Amino acid sequence: MERAVLGGTWASEPCPIGGRLSALVHSQIHFTLLLGGLGQIAYMTVPLAARKMVPAKKSRLIATIDFHVTSECSQECPYCWGPLEVAQVKKREALKIVEKVHQHGIRRIVFTGGDPLRRRDIGRLVKHAKAFGLEVALSTTGDKLTRGFLRKYGRFIDLVSIPLDGSNEEVSSLTKEMGHFSAVMKALRLLEKHPQIDVKVCTPLTKLNGHDLGNMLRLVASWAEKAPNRVFYNIFNIYPRAMQEVDWDTYLLTDEEFSAMKEREERASNLTVNFLDRTTLDALYVLIFPDGELCLPVGPDYLRLGRFLDVEDLDQAVKSAGFQAEKHLEHSKGWGKVGEVPD
Ligand SMILES: C[S@@+](CC[C@H](N)C(=O)[O-])C[C@H]1O[C@@H](n2cnc3c(N)ncnc32)[C@H](O)[C@@H]1O
Ligand code: SF4
Repeated sequence: MERAVLGGTWASEPCPIGGRLSALVHSQIHFTLLLGGLGQIAYMTVPLAARKMVPAKKSRLIATIDFHVTSECSQECPYCWGPLEVAQVKKREALKIVEKVHQHGIRRIVFTGGDPLRRRDIGRLVKHAKAFGLEVALSTTGDKLTRGFLRKYGRFIDLVSIPLDGSNEEVSSLTKEMGHFSAVMKALRLLEKHPQIDVKVCTPLTKLNGHDLGNMLRLVASWAEKAPNRVFYNIFNIYPRAMQEVDWDTYLLTDEEFSAMKEREERASNLTVNFLDRTTLDALYVLIFPDGELCLPVGPDYLRLGRFLDVEDLDQAVKSAGFQAEKHLEHSKGWGKVGEVPD
């Protein structure tokens, strides 16, 4: 439940000593001494320090935030720009991060990774985000998506995003593990049973799968034709930023090669296809890393901007680090459930 406290908003949460306590009581750290004597037990609660609530100024520049809840993943894509071997916050802090996203007035949260489904509490996080009225997206590898998960948590999810690296197992396995292609097909079939969930298929285009783009477009288009879901298809020219060493020459298409593919294929498709070149992808996203740090990816760098929960003025933090807000707001309009992004 949300309530006003100390000039900000705050949601009640389970107390470590049991039950749900008021915001006032909960704003202190409790130290419980258990005293025993002559058959009598007394409890003494000593407030140690008031919990510091960092206020959250409403953001006017950020429509979507990507919360990388884990760096764990079943895949080892050579071009991956996701976090690698970054420690992850525990459930309690992850829940607070979700609340803080809402307090900053950001409309949409993308739970991503790694594979967010590798976190056991992902259902709880998704539900929490929806309880705060956020638009909720799940960007997952797809191989851990189950009927049971969707049955339980699908109603709290607005969009599921799944990567497709090839139109068949052979091409896909050049960058993904063998079996990933069939896992994606299975995940798409499961999503058909949840027509209210929008589906975004994402292809990171490389020298290895560029020749297969037409086939991938046809595959996604023919699935989209029979699926009851709204379907989007995003095609990225992979961006040379990674937390591991990469021999980029093996994978990178030139800007000209990517543009030519876009020209050729865009017209042939009746899908909503979005081609994202490298100029568009730079400084486009605002991230929260698995360890709870605010992070802005700019050029080849991951700029670390401090603990997300401690940032009061997000706009100032990201703007001074080079965030391209106009582009971000424009891009965020590409998908939405609750109307347009406010100006
Ligand atoms: C980091 S992944 C995390 C979610 C999930 N593991 C996946 O791959 O879809 C999020 C998105 O970034 C894309 N991606 C990964 N590395 C990229 C890169 N270097 N350039 C552009 N897109 C990339 C993926 O294809 C995916 O669509
Ligand atoms: S599936 Fe996603 S997170 Fe995992 S390695 Fe590939 S791009 Fe990175």
